[in-house]
Amino acid sequence: MIKRLLLSAMACIAIATTFADEGMWLPNNIKERIKYMRRMGFKLKADDIYSADKASLKDAVVQFGGGCTGEFVSEQGLLLTNHHCGYSSIQKLSSVEHDYLTYGYWAQSMADELPVPGLTVSLLVSMEDVTERLATGEKKEEIIAAAINGEGYRASIESIYYGNQHILYVYQTYRDVRLVGAPPSSIGKFGGDTDNWIWPRHTGDFSIFRVYAGKDNQPADYSEENVPYRPKRHFKISTNGVQEGDFTMIYGFPGNTQEYVISDAVEYVANVSNPMKIALRTQRLETITEAQAKDPAVRIAYAAKHANIANSWKKWQGESLGLERLGTIEKKKRYEADFAVWAATKPEYSTLLDSMRTAYANCTKGYFVRELFNESVGAIEAYGIAHKLRQATSTTAEEQLAYRQKLLKDYNPEIDRTIARQMLTEFIARMPKEDIPQVLTKGIENCGSIEKYIDSLYNNTKILGSAVLKNEELMADPMLEFENIFTNTVERNKAYVYRNISNVPAIEKWYKTYMQALREWDSERAFYPDANFTLRVAYGTICGYENADGEYHTHLSTLDGVIAKENPAIYDYDIPQELRDIYKNKDYGRWSINKNGSPTVPVCFLASNHTSGGNSGSPVINGKGELVGINFDRTWRSTMSDIEFDPSICRNISVDIRYVLFVVDRLGHAQYLLDELKVN
Ligand code: ARG
Ligand code: GLU
Repeated sequence: MIKRLLLSAMACIAIATTFADEGMWLPNNIKERIKYMRRMGFKLKADDIYSADKASLKDAVVQFGGGCTGEFVSEQGLLLTNHHCGYSSIQKLSSVEHDYLTYGYWAQSMADELPVPGLTVSLLVSMEDVTERLATGEKKEEIIAAAINGEGYRASIESIYYGNQHILYVYQTYRDVRLVGAPPSSIGKFGGDTDNWIWPRHTGDFSIFRVYAGKDNQPADYSEENVPYRPKRHFKISTNGVQEGDFTMIYGFPGNTQEYVISDAVEYVANVSNPMKIALRTQRLETITEAQAKDPAVRIAYAAKHANIANSWKKWQGESLGLERLGTIEKKKRYEADFAVWAATKPEYSTLLDSMRTAYANCTKGYFVRELFNESVGAIEAYGIAHKLRQATSTTAEEQLAYRQKLLKDYNPEIDRTIARQMLTEFIARMPKEDIPQVLTKGIENCGSIEKYIDSLYNNTKILGSAVLKNEELMADPMLEFENIFTNTVERNKAYVYRNISNVPAIEKWYKTYMQALREWDSERAFYPDANFTLRVAYGTICGYENADGEYHTHLSTLDGVIAKENPAIYDYDIPQELRDIYKNKDYGRWSINKNGSPTVPVCFLASNHTSGGNSGSPVINGKGELVGINFDRTWRSTMSDIEFDPSICRNISVDIRYVLFVVDRLGHAQYLLDELKVN
């Protein structure tokens, strides 16, 4: 107890800083970090986290849908993830009559669980360092082919440290995944885009799914005959809560970081790329928001699109502010200057930085053209539809119509027309003159203005309607002609479709050597591989932080804060009446905690784990390996941790598992789930 109290706010920052929580580590190598983790309060062993031959925690973690994480919490394949990760599935199952986005959904038995067509969940079967095998002449394709030896298996070899090491990953994908429960958006997305990336936070960002399998527990297409999947391992839930200074571990699939890039790359991000992307998305968001306010059907149809556009838009702003606050560019320049002094006497490294700088100078324009294209013309939905239709030419006219209608679900031609005008204007204004396709310039000239050009496209295209089109008609359609302009110009420049500017091959090739040099020169530094959507472990502590001079943000938010923010007049803050009533009566039952002498319910907490996009839905685990929360966000000016992590201010945000259970219990009234979770 005394030890607890000593861990006052600032002490937790000191711990976070001393042990340097930075890093997203490979699970199969975690024994290298385990002594640090144990010092911070982790009680389990390395092979509890990952084991090649027995069940371990890794068997309880999944990649959910395209880019999120989820975790098993029962023997019967019950899965937790974020509300925003389940969002497009919930939306797909929603209509104005059954609006699960607005009102939530709670199955009251397995029979009520709703299949989500197309939703999949992937489990990591194994991972193995194959650098040696490749070096001794084995072929990538052969290694991969040999690894795919089970139902639903897929494998890939991912390089880390810019090609210095290669890891084979084998996954098994389950394709019958059903929606079990989702809170109303006013809880699951409480605060909407206003609160997104912000602390203090009061979002119950969770949703519940269940994975189904064939009778043999193997992946199967949806069928009524399928049974709940029995995972090798699932997380036990702890309702004991979290205290400042407690150990936390995040186990999940972070997507994209670039911790080792030189200052040129950071300058590109902060001064060139982010400002352009932010400006263009501001316009798209204004257009969509305005249309949503006028029509509830549009609000639903564009809900997921709006959330996606706004999410990165806001992240980039926070990232730029964070980079500025840390002085990352200057810091990197000093680091590089020191490195250059050391490298000057090493023939193999002495010209390295110069070569890298030249490569950036040569590649920046091309990469920018590609990013600008993606954010402008690429953001026009009709362009995207035309692009997909061209790629699917071998089908019959009827199949093609069915496909088109699928693409047109949730599509609004008037919103898109406005966005097309805005985005084409930006494309023309920002593109280097010589990269604007001449056919486009001519087309616009012929029509008299960009607006008229866009109008003529939208007035004459048939692909946005429901007529059956023969292939010749389709190919001659004005929208496909528009799309084709870029296929032969900007689009052709595939060279620039890379994760980050530093991954353009002409730049990336230097990083292989640079990483080797850094390991020699900065030998005390703890190197971890950049995130690449593979399974990682990040450890840290429950911890507040100093948000601004003299302004400390504590680690826990509560229901009192939800009530302080709630507002029936604002969609994102209009909580269910039931929740207001529970608050009024302070009727929290077993979920009550005491804060400054009065009862409340915990909602979200902060910790110092190094996370990134893709870590959404990741389990937050305490020292005993029990689930205490679900990760869903970072604080705004700490998203520069994708480039530079600072343990004193970088914080991830999680929903407290006790809030999840409170909502399932008191708003969902889903007793069968509480029984299954064994928290009764
Ligand atoms: N910022 C979180 C993430 O990157 C949550 C995003 C979803 N929420 C939203 N309001 N758009 O995924
Ligand atoms: N919300 C993010 C996601 O969807 C995680 C937050 C972050 O980027 O840290 O993956």
